[in-house]
Amino acid sequence: MGKPAFLSKKPPMTKPSAEERAQRLTKRQYVRFAFYKVDPVWRRLPADEQMEHKRELLEVIKSFNRRMLLRPYSTMGTRADAEILLWQIAESPDVFQDLAKAVMKTQMGGYLEMAYSYLSQTKRSVYEIRFGDEEEAEEERLVIDPSEAKYLFVYPFIKTRDWYQMSQMARQGVMDEHIVVGRKYPSIRLNTTYSFGIDDYEFIVAFETDEPSDFLDLVQELRETESSKYTLQDTPLFSCINMRLEEAIDALGGPDIAEPIDDTVTREVWQEVCPIDDFAPGETQVVYLEGKMVGLFNIDGEIYAINNRCTHARGPLTEGTINAEECSVVCPWHYGKFDIKTGQPVDGIVRKPVETYQVEIRDGVVYVGTKVGGE
Ligand code: FES
Repeated sequence: MGKPAFLSKKPPMTKPSAEERAQRLTKRQYVRFAFYKVDPVWRRLPADEQMEHKRELLEVIKSFNRRMLLRPYSTMGTRADAEILLWQIAESPDVFQDLAKAVMKTQMGGYLEMAYSYLSQTKRSVYEIRFGDEEEAEEERLVIDPSEAKYLFVYPFIKTRDWYQMSQMARQGVMDEHIVVGRKYPSIRLNTTYSFGIDDYEFIVAFETDEPSDFLDLVQELRETESSKYTLQDTPLFSCINMRLEEAIDALGGPDIAEPIDDTVTREVWQEVCPIDDFAPGETQVVYLEGKMVGLFNIDGEIYAINNRCTHARGPLTEGTINAEECSVVCPWHYGKFDIKTGQPVDGIVRKPVETYQVEIRDGVVYVGTKVGGE
């Protein structure tokens, strides 16, 4: 639950000061890549026990959607030593530990081995991107917003110590060549996260794409750039396949628990938010639904839900300035203004609307929903 910074009928529309900008650039996300593998003994258990274990695991993991952005992937068939990835993104690392403990306390936890675990953070790059809108590009790097891409390629990464002894200008030159090659592959989206001092590596990189062959070509081409000389380690590399959590659990073995879904038919997906009594007028809430961060606003007793990531550069709208009278919110990053009821941009730099979501109160509990699938 959160309260808006302040309520004002005339929100500021000026550019942020250098101090404000520096402050928000320190707001980073924590990221965890947790790869699990199942003990083969589990696969010899009776089918009804396997079903029970899988259903319990599913419910436990799903219950964390309230607190983190959680994306499941399967590495079954693409990697010998890991079978499922839970990609986790949160504002604090504490929730990662809570999820790990909860998973281990399930019946299936007794048969799950943590194959690999990587902890990292988002961070502003020390290199200039020098293409497009640099300020937006840099701020977007602070916020992970996974796409619907089918494949994710993840690897930890260490550079040589010689790299860090080079001048900033020399490193920028090397990175410019690297960036030019990357721009040749627009089907690939890069998520760079940093783990200096908080895990064994320096970076954990995650590339999203629908075209694995583009990624292969990109990596091969990058080997010919100067920056490749300064790579000390970039393995193990995980080729991960995006799927629903129940499908990723089914891929581990045992009878299927996932209901078959016809993606050509529209269906509704709902997420519990909180008891309505815990959500007072003027307050906001954040939950994750279908991999999106959803911001809920209680405006004079009416609850509205919109995508919490501003369409300009992913600023967190629930941390913006709310005007209850006109039912609008001003993004805290560059002061783009949105209508909370419709998601439409109404003022400032923003051009695209934010997605809106359905809200229902059932037995005193707030739920947020969306429609997925369909032509
Ligand atoms: S992130 Fe720029 S206006 Fe919201």
